[in-house]
Amino acid sequence: MSSSSFNAEEHKKMLRSYFNGQGFQRWASIYGDDKLSSVRNTVRQGHAVMMDKAFDWLQQLGLPKGASILDAGCGTGLFSIRLAKAGYKVTSVDIASQMVNKAKEEATRQGVEKNITFEVNTLESVSGTYDAVVCFDVLIHYPAEGFSQAFRNLASLTKGSVIFTYAPYNKILALQHWIGGYFPKKERRTTIQMIRDEEMQNAMKKTGMKVKTREKISFGFYHTMLMNASHN
Ligand SMILES: C[S@@+](CC[C@H](N)C(=O)[O-])C[C@H]1O[C@@H](n2cnc3c(N)ncnc32)[C@H](O)[C@@H]1O
Repeated sequence: MSSSSFNAEEHKKMLRSYFNGQGFQRWASIYGDDKLSSVRNTVRQGHAVMMDKAFDWLQQLGLPKGASILDAGCGTGLFSIRLAKAGYKVTSVDIASQMVNKAKEEATRQGVEKNITFEVNTLESVSGTYDAVVCFDVLIHYPAEGFSQAFRNLASLTKGSVIFTYAPYNKILALQHWIGGYFPKKERRTTIQMIRDEEMQNAMKKTGMKVKTREKISFGFYHTMLMNASHN
C-alpha cells in the first residue's frame, strides 16, 4: 500500500479484524508461554530483549511512583503488567477487544488489575494526559502517512517521552522473511511497513518532538528500532 492511497479508516478496520481473529491466536502464543517453532521463538526472545531495554529507558526518566503511563496497543498486556508491578498507574489501550480481554485476564491473574485502566480504543483516538506514553510493535503496521497521524495523537498526550518501536527502511528486508511466516496471504497488508529516515524526521517535525535515544534491536527474526522521543 503506498502512502498516497492510505485510508486510515480502512487500515484500522483491517488491523482490528486481524488482531481480533487469526492475529490474536498468533501473537497471544508468541507473547505467552506456548511451545513455539524456533523461528517464532526468536521473535518472542527479541521482543523480550526490546521490552527489557524499553523498561530501563522508562526507569531512567525518573518518574515518581504512581506516574501515569499509557500503553498504546497493549496487546496481551505484557508491558502494562510489568509497569503496574513497578508501581506505575497504567492505561492500557488496544484496538482489538480480544487483546484487551486477554490483558485484563492476565492482569487479574497476576493481581495488578486495580493499577490498570483498560480501554478498547485506537492510537488515533485515545485521549488523556500521561507522564509518558509507550507504544511497542504497533506502529510497525503503519505506512509513513498513517504513522504520522497516529504518532501525532500519541505525542499530544504527554509532556514527557513517547517510547516506541518502528521498522526502519531496510534493503535486506529481513523483516519480510520474519513476517512472511506469520501472516496468511490475505492478511498480508498487516505486514511490517518500513519507514524511511526522512519520513521519520518529517513525522517528528510535525509533533515538535526530538529523538533522544534510538537503538536497533535485532534478534533472530525479530528486528525493530526502539526510540525515545520527547518535546524538549
Ligand atoms: C504486535 S502486537 C504488540 C502488542 C504489545 N504492544 C507488545 O509489544 O506486547 C500489536 C498490537 O497493536 C494493536 N493495534 C494495532 N493497530 C492499533 C491501533 N490503531 N490502535 C490501537 N491498537 C492497535 C493490535 O491489536 C495488537 O494488539
